[in-house]
Amino acid sequence: MAHKLSTQFFGAFLVLFVLQPFVIKSLEFESIQNLEGAQKGDVVNGLNQIKKYLYKYGYYHHDIEGTIDDKFDDSLESALKAYQNYLGIDVTGKIDSDTIEGVLTPRCGVPDHLVSSAKWRTRSLDWRISSTVNVFPDAQLSPVLTKAFTSWAKVSPFKFTMGRFKTDIVIGFLKKDHADGFPFKDKEFAHAFPPPDGRLHFYAKWNWTFDPTGKGGKTNKVDVQSIAVHEIGHLLGLDHSNRTSAVMYAFYKPGTIKRDLTDEDKKRIKALYPN
Ligand SMILES: *[C@@H]1O[C@H](CO)[C@@H](O)[C@H](O)[C@H]1NC(C)=O
Ligand SMILES: *[C@@H]1O[C@H](CO)[C@@H](O)[C@H](O)[C@H]1NC(C)=O
Ligand SMILES: [Zn+2]
Ligand SMILES: [Zn+2]
Repeated sequence: MAHKLSTQFFGAFLVLFVLQPFVIKSLEFESIQNLEGAQKGDVVNGLNQIKKYLYKYGYYHHDIEGTIDDKFDDSLESALKAYQNYLGIDVTGKIDSDTIEGVLTPRCGVPDHLVSSAKWRTRSLDWRISSTVNVFPDAQLSPVLTKAFTSWAKVSPFKFTMGRFKTDIVIGFLKKDHADGFPFKDKEFAHAFPPPDGRLHFYAKWNWTFDPTGKGGKTNKVDVQSIAVHEIGHLLGLDHSNRTSAVMYAFYKPGTIKRDLTDEDKKRIKALYPN
């Protein structure tokens, strides 16, 4: 699906999307295969799930509360086209198999097209770990997070320091519901808030690892450092990139490593913080 990305032109589809509690409570796709082929005018059982998904990830310009039903309306068609464009799949405006594959692919919980101009004023940020689920001992986790911070420190004016008490950034492994208004959806690895919030939450339910390739090849494990580098990008104020290779791309495949910032990631952080 994603490999076709670069062939599509993505128009100026930027949505001013401020993080706020969603009306959406459940977003789990146990069976959406029956939606395949649905198009404008159709009424299909379960279509509301796609509406919720596209709303949650920033593909509507407006509030859709009250129209979250199973009717394939005009605004669903436009939201769907924008989504297909972001993914780089054929922009059919219909729910085809690539679209279904897309919504079933694990991803970051932060919406796409989240345009935030928020920036840090300081260039010296300190961070600490505060988890409610014990996935790794802090002593093992902190060197990995330090590496993720270092990736950004090398290409930006920031200096990151591990602290102990009141820090700018607080990182933790948490349960699905963790009292910030953004319970994790099944397919989400993590989310982080734009400046100057400083919260970065990893969803504890995944099989997290420091070495996803490990012995024996492919695993279903999720690389802490790869996800951390991505989420720190959000903490600094970056939104998602539409390049599949970029660290700031919204999707990640378990069992893979994506720790190195691409030229595009570097260009974007430099544009946000020239000094
Ligand atoms: C990716 O997004 C940029 C804006 O950030 C846009 O100019 C470009 O056309 C998009 N590319 C693709 C392949 O969608
Ligand atoms: C974690 O790994 C176990 C064993 O391979 C697997 O059964 C389980 O589904 C995995 N959990 C997730 C969330 O991938
Ligand atoms: Zn993200
Ligand atoms: Zn959270």
